[in-house]
Amino acid sequence: MSTSEIVPVPPTFAAAARIDRATRDALHDEATRDPDAFWRRLADRLDWDRAPTQLKDSSFDRDDFRIRWYADGVLNACVNCLDRHLATRGDKVALIFEADDPATPAQHVTYGELHARVCRLGNALRNLGVRRGDRVTVYLPMIVDAVVAMLACARIGAVHSVVFGGFAPQSIADRIADCASKLVITADEGLRGGKRIPLKANVDAALKMPGTHSVETVLVVRHTGAGIDMQMPRDRWFHAVTDIQPDTCEPEHMGAEDPLFILYTSGSTGKPKGVLHTTGGYLAWASWTHEAVFDLRDDDVYWCTADVGWITGHSYIVYGPLANGATQVVFEGVPNFPDASRFWNVIDRHRVTLFYTAPTAIRALMREGDTPVKRTSRASLRLLGTVGEPINPEAWRWYHDVVGGARCPVVDTWWQTETGGILIAPLPGATALKPGSATLPLPGVQPALVDAEGALLDGEAQGNLVLLDSWPGQMRTLYNDHARFIETYFSAYPGMYFTGDGCRRDADGYYWITGRVDDVINVSGHRIGTAEVESALVAHPHVAEAAVVGYPHDIKGQGIHAYVTLVTDREPDDALRAELVQAVRRAIGPIATPDRIQWAPALPKTRSGKIMRRILRKIAEGAAHQLGDTSTLADPGVVDSLVDGARRDE
Ligand code: PRX
Repeated sequence: MSTSEIVPVPPTFAAAARIDRATRDALHDEATRDPDAFWRRLADRLDWDRAPTQLKDSSFDRDDFRIRWYADGVLNACVNCLDRHLATRGDKVALIFEADDPATPAQHVTYGELHARVCRLGNALRNLGVRRGDRVTVYLPMIVDAVVAMLACARIGAVHSVVFGGFAPQSIADRIADCASKLVITADEGLRGGKRIPLKANVDAALKMPGTHSVETVLVVRHTGAGIDMQMPRDRWFHAVTDIQPDTCEPEHMGAEDPLFILYTSGSTGKPKGVLHTTGGYLAWASWTHEAVFDLRDDDVYWCTADVGWITGHSYIVYGPLANGATQVVFEGVPNFPDASRFWNVIDRHRVTLFYTAPTAIRALMREGDTPVKRTSRASLRLLGTVGEPINPEAWRWYHDVVGGARCPVVDTWWQTETGGILIAPLPGATALKPGSATLPLPGVQPALVDAEGALLDGEAQGNLVLLDSWPGQMRTLYNDHARFIETYFSAYPGMYFTGDGCRRDADGYYWITGRVDDVINVSGHRIGTAEVESALVAHPHVAEAAVVGYPHDIKGQGIHAYVTLVTDREPDDALRAELVQAVRRAIGPIATPDRIQWAPALPKTRSGKIMRRILRKIAEGAAHQLGDTSTLADPGVVDSLVDGARRDE
């Protein structure tokens, strides 16, 4: 089924690339025949206080389970991202801050200045009692201080937990409570597309919720200057505590396996999971993959449009690019503000060479036609990337042909919060592309496809995507819940890491990710757990039961379809529909807003009472004619009424 066209590597790109075909083959060969040499090559990219003598030490077998990389090495991630560049790149621009409002002049922050700002905050955090191993929650807009906050934590050995600025107070509170953070760093407000986000007020609301008493201090960045409520002595202005600090700060010497950060992500059941990444392996993998997949050169201007609240921001805004001494744009805004040319204007203004964004943004901009793109030059671009969800070939084509002027390779990068860095992606100077495919595994990465029983599938096949062995960027555990870690990722197929994704491999060995096969919905590249949305709905007094599924959505990739059964004496109406939408936004945040709420007289259940989501998914997709076997339903009549209801709602 390698039906799709092949887009060859542009010869001029290949000629100048860091990794050409021969180098790629040599790396794969080394990773297979002499893995230690390959893993050492990655470790050697970093500056170690004590170089590791141990390399890979892992087993996915339940009885002998361990994931350790470079375990006896000692280093500091912040030193690797800043200090080691000072001698040669102290005056090089690290960050170009592009504000939400295009009229605001851009700020250029050099490696030297970034180092000083990080040191001042590191000292301030220590003065406020934050010690090695303590957790710090970061709830900030996409501003330079978000990067400063993460690196300052890394410098003093504190573990950051960044919470995306679009999350609501309850979600912040859950994340604070789970890891018992001592300190929160936030801002007065965020700005996105001209809209103000009340970040400090959200933190105030979160800290009134149960389980958040661990927080002693809230540091507040003055960003928009809005009037906010400061509760002394808990709340302190960021500038007041940092301005008085010296520009140098002694870094902690961290073990390679010491935690670097926790990042919460949605799973198919229960509350969000605290994915824990450690220091040495994570940083080596983020740095190497960033250089290899983006073909990074010293004079590139790189721009990743993700938010630091997601793993893409961690690995490919903060740790990878800064470890590599790159110059990059940090963008506060959104793709369509003030208009649909914004991305392309920013590319021209800062002469961006490497651009990395999500398919959902590409699809939304594609809908605006070619004119907003063609008004701009984009001549500086030499490579484009995508991440977060499958990219449909039409959107890939538009990105390649219109945005990239058919000159720039498109790297479709498959990975996850859990993988820490990219695992399947083209090496752009070596890999021929197929629109819609993440192409081939990187050296050292061992993906495989299995059937429902866990049998390995050979050659051309479709199945569930697993990884047969560890890589340095792999998550180590779920914070405070190692049993759930094993259960979630290593029990479906014993001895293998299960990704939760379905995938097809074509005759050329190219991987085509088909999407999640579990109860996770990928909305605009953001993972939403159906269970979280359901629990927000059933918390409403008039809701008896709710079931949430994803359905194909032109722009978002997937939309959220909620089936809601009301308590017996309540009739549905539009006011209640609006209330339920609000209830979800309040509990989780705007990113989880249901696209559709369908009133369901009842939900399809098996005789043992289990909701048959397969059927609900088909109805939401408008594929009621493919419902398959419904004979195990307790009441097959339920299905007809739902199919009718879905038709009426269209
Ligand atoms: O389903 C896959 C999809 O996003 C999931 C991971 O989501 P998250 O942990 O939030 O990380 C997103 C950024 C790395 C995966 O299980 N996904 C991610 N990248 C791709 C993708 N699906 C298809 N193609 C991709 N390039």
